Amino acid sequence: MAKFDFSKRDSFGSKIGVIAAAAGSAIGLGNIWKFPYITGENGGGAFLLVYLACIALIGLPIMLAEFSLGRKANRNVFGAFKKLAPNTGWYWSGVLFNTAAFTIMSYYAVVAGWIFAYIPRSISGALSGQNFNEAFSNLNSSTVEPLIWSFVVLGLTIFFIHSGIKKGIEKYTKILMPILLVLMIILMIRSVTLPGAMEGIDFLFAPNFSALTPGGVLEALGHAFFSLSLGMGVMMTYGSYIQKQENLQTTSLQVVIADTAIALMAGVIIFPAVFAYDLEPSSGPGLIFITLPGVFNAMQGGIIFQTLFFILIGIAALTSTMSLVEVVASSVTEQLGISRNKGILMIAGLMALLIIPNSLSYGAMSDVTLFGHTVFGVFDFLASNIFLPVGGLMIALFLGWFYKLKNIRSEITNEGKYRFRLAGVYNYLIKYIAPVAIVIILLYATGILSKLGWV
Ligand code: PHE
Repeated sequence: MAKFDFSKRDSFGSKIGVIAAAAGSAIGLGNIWKFPYITGENGGGAFLLVYLACIALIGLPIMLAEFSLGRKANRNVFGAFKKLAPNTGWYWSGVLFNTAAFTIMSYYAVVAGWIFAYIPRSISGALSGQNFNEAFSNLNSSTVEPLIWSFVVLGLTIFFIHSGIKKGIEKYTKILMPILLVLMIILMIRSVTLPGAMEGIDFLFAPNFSALTPGGVLEALGHAFFSLSLGMGVMMTYGSYIQKQENLQTTSLQVVIADTAIALMAGVIIFPAVFAYDLEPSSGPGLIFITLPGVFNAMQGGIIFQTLFFILIGIAALTSTMSLVEVVASSVTEQLGISRNKGILMIAGLMALLIIPNSLSYGAMSDVTLFGHTVFGVFDFLASNIFLPVGGLMIALFLGWFYKLKNIRSEITNEGKYRFRLAGVYNYLIKYIAPVAIVIILLYATGILSKLGWV
């Protein structure tokens, strides 16, 4: 088998490229589709505070861990563990990370596909005057159309990444992310100037602790992982492409701030509109597909804003799918020594097959269930509630207990060029706080805590 030539490994060409790609991965359906609806279901402001605490105390330390381990190893996830911990079982983490990437991609591309399907519907005005609930279920229960849109998402993703890091991921995320930001600002201005907007802002920012349940606290923690793309080697892989002169401490902080800011902006777009038109903030996963077309329909210039909105989420989703496929692409090309194009085509073929049952889960295959969940439900549950937290736990344990902070310190400080003032706090967070918190989420997510009667 041909050997991969590591001296020819690609990298990000600029600081701004690193931020665009990593923030592009983090910012996605998690921020714009999921964050508003889970915040709505959990009563708003108090949930937000807990989420912010999880981001700062667990998300940020794990982000820095992934970046620094990845850059130090300068390898894909398999190669990284092999290099940093030769002849140990850590190598097999690569299997978990790659499986997580396949699992997430298989249903994420389906949701992203629905979003793409809503773009032509918005432009043509086809949604106005319809029952939005029916329009949405007509789409997701049919066989051919959603499948085609998910394949479009997969096709665009491999098109964007096939030319590599500098000429692929970096080039496209650098164009797409600023567009996303501009679109969000336009929509935010529109939303906060609606009559009655303040009620929505209050809902999001005024903490109401009586609405917060223990389940909500744990949901906030799980969502911190998903939203920051942590626990499956995305940031490790991207870290392996970051050049040695970049400051990983500020990079991690900037990515975390960007992701959080976009989630808040999504909330500021969605809640004022929901309250201005007297809708329910706790409408669940259908919030953007069912509630928002209603909002836009009642708004002047609604067609334009609705079209912009779905284009925006489509862009956000694509910059995330690029990172999911890159984890696998780097693993396959470097470990098997095959060409990037060949590797990517193989991966895309397998992903396309996995997308099919996920897409059909709302229609032709809605009766096919496992433990009472459709294929889509099982994939979503496995990824966010099992694979990502277990992956995050492994990273925290690997760095905190096995590899140890003292061995990564020079990577974090660029050989002493930057100070690492919070090293003591960092060590404590990565060794104790993050692992304990993650074990609690896992016990909760798998229902063990509720069997014990604790939540
Ligand atoms: N962070 C992405 C989002 O919020 C989802 C994602 C998770 C992407 C894990 C890559 C890895 O939509």
